[in-house]
Amino acid sequence: MTEAKARPWRSVLYIPGSNARALDKARSLPVDAIIFDLEDAVAPESKAAARQTLAAALAEGGYGARARLVRINALDTPWGAEDVAALAGAGADALLLPKVNGPGDVAALAAMLDATPGTAGLAIWAMMESCAGVLNAAAIARAPRMGGFILGTNDLAKEIGCDTGDGRAALVTALQSCLMAARAAGIPCVDGVYNAFKDEAGLRAECEQGRAFGMDGKTLIHPAQVATANEVFAPTPAQIELAQRQIEAFRAAEREGKGVAVLDGKIVENLHIVTAEATLAKADAIRALEHT
Ligand code: COA
Ligand code: MG
Repeated sequence: MTEAKARPWRSVLYIPGSNARALDKARSLPVDAIIFDLEDAVAPESKAAARQTLAAALAEGGYGARARLVRINALDTPWGAEDVAALAGAGADALLLPKVNGPGDVAALAAMLDATPGTAGLAIWAMMESCAGVLNAAAIARAPRMGGFILGTNDLAKEIGCDTGDGRAALVTALQSCLMAARAAGIPCVDGVYNAFKDEAGLRAECEQGRAFGMDGKTLIHPAQVATANEVFAPTPAQIELAQRQIEAFRAAEREGKGVAVLDGKIVENLHIVTAEATLAKADAIRALEHT
């Protein structure tokens, strides 16, 4: 996996660690990342078998450039420690810790990893899905080994006791709090799932909302959702063209000794160039992923 910040996180697909068929299918799906789940998608009686199935799938490989995150059970459950023991060295890029309430939860997992040989490069991602977690987002984003945030909007709505209709109005504060914490720490932030996996129009609307907020991508539960997320979270040809023209206009202005350019009647300053370069870098990263 390449450096987390440089890679795209448009489509992040959950796969139950117990589902061998889905684990195999994911090798050919055009997703940016996979969350191999040992937590809520796996029943208590299947946890041990899922660990083995998943470790074998990771050992077999074949996931190409897709980022591989393993969602373990929380460390205060009967399964968390064994998940870490079985999967920390299995070849994933990160462990995804559920129900993170504060930086101490991350630090506890980091301490376990620090004591496990061969896990120096293993990142920790945090499920942001509790009220305490959202309130502590800034500190969590700066916790040891922190690689990124995944919004757990179903758990969050359950804990708040809110209705998720009306454009997720009741969740906006939480989504933005997590985003700001992630951005301040320079880590990616991926939106929660859209449960009605056969409703493409509904998914598209929620992806567009997430993109407008600034999310890097969307977590997904079914292969049918992948194309929509990949499309919505990629820079459009028009955005790429505008970015190129902004950079050209700004460089031309600089050559004339000016610090500001005007393009299509709009001012172009250095801050726009930072955004334009990020747009081009993201487009390049997507192209690089699709060629592997
Ligand atoms: N990842 C990879 N492949 C998946 C998949 C997933 N999340 N969900 C379904 N598939 C595969 C199926 O194995 C099937 O493959 P096949 O055609 O080779 O047999 C194909 O996609 C079509 O599946 P479909 O029959 O439409 O779905 P289903 O009824 O088998 O499963 C769900 C529906 C929702 C149970 C399933 O998509 C799922 O388990 N999703 C993940 C849930 C999860 O991880 N939740 C935790 C986080 S919210
Ligand atoms: Mg959850």
